[in-house]
Amino acid sequence: MQLSERISRISVSTIATVLQKAEKLKVRDTKLADLGAGEPDFPTPDHIKKAAIKAIEEDFTKYTATGGIRELRQALVEKHAKDYGSNYTVEECLVTVGGKQAVFEAMSAALNEGDEVILPTPHWVTFLEIIKYAGGTPVLLETSESENFAVHAKAIEKLINPKTKLVIVNSPHNPTGAVVPPAEMEKILALAIRHNLLLISDECYCYFLYDGRKPFSLGSSKEREHLLIVDSFSKTYAMTGWRVGFALGPRRLLANMLKLQSHSTSNPNSIAQKAALAAVEGPQTHVDMMRAEYRHRRDRVMEGLQSMPGIRCVPPHGAFYAYPNVSHYFKKDGLGDASALAERLLNEAHVAVVPGTAFGTREHIRISYATSLEHINEGLRRMAAFFTKICLNYVRAEHSSSTLHGLQTKNLGSGEPLSHIPGGGGN
Ligand SMILES: Cc1ncc(COP(=O)(O)O)c(C=O)c1O
Repeated sequence: MQLSERISRISVSTIATVLQKAEKLKVRDTKLADLGAGEPDFPTPDHIKKAAIKAIEEDFTKYTATGGIRELRQALVEKHAKDYGSNYTVEECLVTVGGKQAVFEAMSAALNEGDEVILPTPHWVTFLEIIKYAGGTPVLLETSESENFAVHAKAIEKLINPKTKLVIVNSPHNPTGAVVPPAEMEKILALAIRHNLLLISDECYCYFLYDGRKPFSLGSSKEREHLLIVDSFSKTYAMTGWRVGFALGPRRLLANMLKLQSHSTSNPNSIAQKAALAAVEGPQTHVDMMRAEYRHRRDRVMEGLQSMPGIRCVPPHGAFYAYPNVSHYFKKDGLGDASALAERLLNEAHVAVVPGTAFGTREHIRISYATSLEHINEGLRRMAAFFTKICLNYVRAEHSSSTLHGLQTKNLGSGEPLSHIPGGGGN
């Protein structure tokens, strides 16, 4: 049987593929330093879990309104108003099965075959695949590492033509951790209004900002007719498995997204919605705790990367990812690109990272610091040993004994000799 042309346009998430390979190693009882998953290692806070248990006990286990229970939508718009000064109404809020469903529905509702979508690159892998699936033509806007992956309204404007329908901005950013300044976001929205486009602002990491940056939502803008905010409970409340997200946007767009929802998932899980309600209405201390912990881990990751010769990394100011450039090592060991390097890091050093090729760049790897400091420290230690091994092999090949000596004295991890590193970058 022939499957559809539409489904053949897309592939399984590269991130999922990497995570599956990592999972296989775990099954083989290999001690893996897992810096791959973009998933908080924190448990879902207790008061949220208790609300779900209560929902089950009270038999809140039936279909709900397609777009989510009214109390939750009300609580979401109220919290958004409190945090950002916005004035969305309940009718401008749709609860979805994770932020992913909101992105999927929005693109399906907005795009015609051949419509162009401007997507800054690097980009979260799912954006590209959904654009293709929905029939759109991705127009990649390459951002520059030397400019800290900044997204400029002016650069977006240069790509706009009569076929352009949609622009996607994601700040704080997966995978770079870059943050678009509020003033630039406003300029991008002004562009969308001027050119009659839809702007999707993916704000799934909006509470994880560091270095004095304050949470910001473009939803605080007065003119929102061309704006769809996508947000999620997954990261903010460590609720990845519960599958709750939401969208704030123009009623007509939401009504059409709702049509699709009514014929696909019906409604977000009833129990998870009650848990989400407790998350929004309850204390936000857990979010503050996670933010403080991520900042601490971010600093550790940056410190570790800075101690590895040849690695450059733009400082991430938000989300929980670092996106170092590892191209220094490509020529040294016949490594073609970040995919080959990530594969070897996994197989030889037992460190899981996601190659930049998943996000549209060949020279980077994504390190997630949504994992324990133990994993981070071990991962950095093994990476340092792995890179040292590559250098040693290279120097050996070049017959340069003096450089070899210099490198041997530079153990880049915790200071332990290479041979003592468990799981072993040296293997
Ligand atoms: C940028 C971005 N948007 C949206 C999502 C979707 O998250 P979920 O579907 O779990 O809400 C993710 C998840 O990794 C993400 O990184």
